[in-house]
Amino acid sequence: METVVSGIRPTGNLHLGNYFGAVKSFLQMQEEYNCFFFIADWHSLTTHPHPDNIRNSAKTILSEYLACGLDPEKATIYVQSDVPEVVELYLYLNMNAGIGELMRTASFKDKARQQLHISREGSEGDVEREIFNEGNKHSVSAGLLTYPTLMAADIIIHKALKVPVGKDQEQNMEMARRFARRFNTTYGVEFFPIPASFHLGERSVKVPGLDGSGKMGKSEGNAIYLIDDEKTIKKKVMKAVTDQGPTEPNSEKPAPIQNLFTMMEIVSTKDTYDYFNEKYNNCEIRYGDMKKQLAVDINAFCAPIRERILDIAANTEYMEKVAREGAAKARESAAKTLNEVRQIIGFRPY
Ligand code: TYM
Repeated sequence: METVVSGIRPTGNLHLGNYFGAVKSFLQMQEEYNCFFFIADWHSLTTHPHPDNIRNSAKTILSEYLACGLDPEKATIYVQSDVPEVVELYLYLNMNAGIGELMRTASFKDKARQQLHISREGSEGDVEREIFNEGNKHSVSAGLLTYPTLMAADIIIHKALKVPVGKDQEQNMEMARRFARRFNTTYGVEFFPIPASFHLGERSVKVPGLDGSGKMGKSEGNAIYLIDDEKTIKKKVMKAVTDQGPTEPNSEKPAPIQNLFTMMEIVSTKDTYDYFNEKYNNCEIRYGDMKKQLAVDINAFCAPIRERILDIAANTEYMEKVAREGAAKARESAAKTLNEVRQIIGFRPY
């Protein structure tokens, strides 16, 4: 049976982007594959070096995973920091990862830019110059730089072939493949399979934000969370950016309008989508009506998950048990790979 690995950083609650980009695939894949789904708490240290309470943040995601329908009987569900084997593999991968290639990844540059308070208009040269500026010596961490090697270690420690992730993870996946291949060629072995991104439909998913352009994200400040109540959802959706409406039939949709339709395509029925699409094409669209419908549909989707989150989060004993048993299973799989890795490189096996 093919192995599947994916994780989510515990930097807040799960939002619709996480659900439709990743968790929805997890639910389907746990029925057919050997799945490992984890909570990437080490990764969250790269942007949140002083977490308020990292164990609680991990528990939040765990309760939300379970409320969405991840089943510990079908998939191995664990917290990354409960599996120390990952760190040893991360170390080996870092020995063969280039500072140059890591510095060139888009997500590193974006995050470094944020940490150095450089505006979006700042050039790549600005980012590099600032990183090496004497006053910024500690500003951008080696942990942030090596984010992709840690992610590669997460994936290949279980020899995964498929990784369900949203569109924003494509470059990290490219790096994971590169580091898996590099290990194989460095040591002259066909040891690690080369992992591929997985998405349910034909294309990888990018759930848009409703604030004009770009994706939905925690750090974008535009997320609709699975835990949001009806009122909050309505408020967020009604605030979505729109325009005066089309003046010519069948005109192309500007980005903010397209985002609204994309969201509707994701959460509403096809009939609802077609109805508003036709209104748009006839220049009869009333965005207020469309948003109201979208808010109703998002709430209908979130409400049952929200209720289950509250139930599961209250059951700390059950959550502890899931985390403990998941960690044991994940460690068994990770230790097996690591033992072989140690022998391939020339270290004593455990
Ligand atoms: P993270 O925590 O940022 O996001 C978790 C998952 O949600 C997806 N996602 C989206 N998909 C579509 N549209 C959006 N607006 C949207 N926002 C988030 C992400 O693509 C991702 O699948 N680096 C990873 C965590 C990670 C990981 C791994 C993933 C660490 N190790 C190993 C897979 C395998 C991350 O930051 O995800």
